Amino acid sequence: MPFDISAIRKQFPILTRKFGKHALAYLDNAATTQKPECVIDAIENFYRSSNANVNRGVHPLAEETTVAYDDARRSVGAFIGAKSPHEIIFTRNASEAINLVARSWGEVNLKRNDVVILSVMEHHSNIVPWLQLKEKIGIHIEWIGIDAEGNLSMLELKKALKRTSVKLVSLTGLSNVLGTRPPLEEIIKLTHAAGAKILIDAAQLIAHALVNVQSMDIDFLAFSGHKIYAPMGIGVLYGKSELLRSMPPFLGGGDMIQNVTQEEFTSAELPRKFEAGTPSVADAIGLQTAIEWMNAIGMKEIAHHEETLIKHTSQLLSRIKGIRILGPSDPKNRLGCLSFVIDGVHPHDLTDILGKQGICLRAGHHCTQPLHRHFQIPASTRLSVAVYNTKEEIEMCVASIEKAQKLLNG
Ligand SMILES: Cc1ncc(COP(=O)(O)O)c(C=O)c1O
Repeated sequence: MPFDISAIRKQFPILTRKFGKHALAYLDNAATTQKPECVIDAIENFYRSSNANVNRGVHPLAEETTVAYDDARRSVGAFIGAKSPHEIIFTRNASEAINLVARSWGEVNLKRNDVVILSVMEHHSNIVPWLQLKEKIGIHIEWIGIDAEGNLSMLELKKALKRTSVKLVSLTGLSNVLGTRPPLEEIIKLTHAAGAKILIDAAQLIAHALVNVQSMDIDFLAFSGHKIYAPMGIGVLYGKSELLRSMPPFLGGGDMIQNVTQEEFTSAELPRKFEAGTPSVADAIGLQTAIEWMNAIGMKEIAHHEETLIKHTSQLLSRIKGIRILGPSDPKNRLGCLSFVIDGVHPHDLTDILGKQGICLRAGHHCTQPLHRHFQIPASTRLSVAVYNTKEEIEMCVASIEKAQKLLNG
C-alpha cells in the first residue's frame, strides 16, 4: 500500500478536533500516540460482542475471549520476533514490565554489590526500580555517560563491563529526549561476553524501528502499547523463556497458580505465571489491532516518514536565535523526537502559548531528571512525531515558537 498521509490522518478521529479556530497539531507522541479508528472499534467490539473473563469458563463467550487474548499474544510475539508467544507477558505498561524484571529476576539473581549498568539518558522507569533494589539489597549502579552529541560512551561501557560482578545492562533503545539510539547489537554482544544479561527499554524504539528479539539476542524487552497507537493500560515484557521460567512470580492471585493449599502454592506455566488477576483483554486486542495496522503501512515506511519530519524540524528550529537543540547536530542520528531550550523562554510558558493554538508539545524533564542535570538545565521542550504528522504542522509549530519567543522576550 503506497504511503498516503491524508488516508492515514482520516483514520484518527481526534485529528479533526479544533481549539477555537485552530486545528489540532499533536506533536507529543513520545508521551502517547493517538488511536486509529480500527483500534477504537476493536475495543468497542470486544465489549459489545465477546466480553467474558479469560482462562476460567467453558461457555462460548469465555472461550471466544480466551482465544482472542491468546491470539493477541501471538501477534505481539510475531511483531518482535519472539520464539514463542509464551515469552510475551502482558503488563500495564513498560514501567510495570521493567519493575517485573527488577523484582522477580533481580531479587533472585542479584546480591549486595552486584552491578547493574544504566545510562544517564534513561527514563525514570528504568532508573527507579534499580534504585529501589539498591536500597533494598545494596546493588551497585554503574552509570554510563553520553557525549555532546548524545551518544552513549562506549568507552565507559566497556570499562564498566570489566568489573567482576556485572549482572545486568539495562538501557533505553531510543532516548525519549534526544532521539539517539545506542548501538544495541554491539552492546548486546559485549554484555553477553561479560556474562551479563541485557534489558532493553523499547518504550520509544518500538514505535520507530523494527525490533527482533531473537536476531538481536535480547534477554528482556519492555514496551507500552499506548506509544504505538494502541490503548493505554497494556504493555509487554518479553523475556527469553529459560529466564522467565527460572523467575518467581511477581504478583500473586488468580490465574497465576497451578495449585493452592492452605500452606503453599505452585505457579502456573508461562505466561500465566506472571499475569495474576483479570487481564486487560480488550486492550491486548487493541494492541494486536494497532500492530496489524502498523504492519499494513509498513514499519520502514513509518520510519522513513518520521525521519523526514525530524529532519525538517531540525532544519527549521536551528534558524531560531538563542536555541539550543539537545543531542545530535545531524538529524540523521535522531529518531522520533527533538528537545530544545531557548534563551529567556521557559518551556512551560512556551508550551502554554502553543497549547492555546492547538499545538501540543511537551515541557518539563520528560521523566529524565539525570539527563537534564547532565545538560545543566531544569527542563526542555520536546517535539515528537508519529506517522500522522505532516510537514505543514511542523512549519506552523516552528512559526508559532518564533512568535512566542518574540512575545516572551519582549
Ligand atoms: C524511554 C521510556 N521508557 C519508559 C517509559 C515509560 O512508559 P510507560 O509510562 O508507558 O510505562 C517511557 C515513557 O515515556 C519512555 O519514554
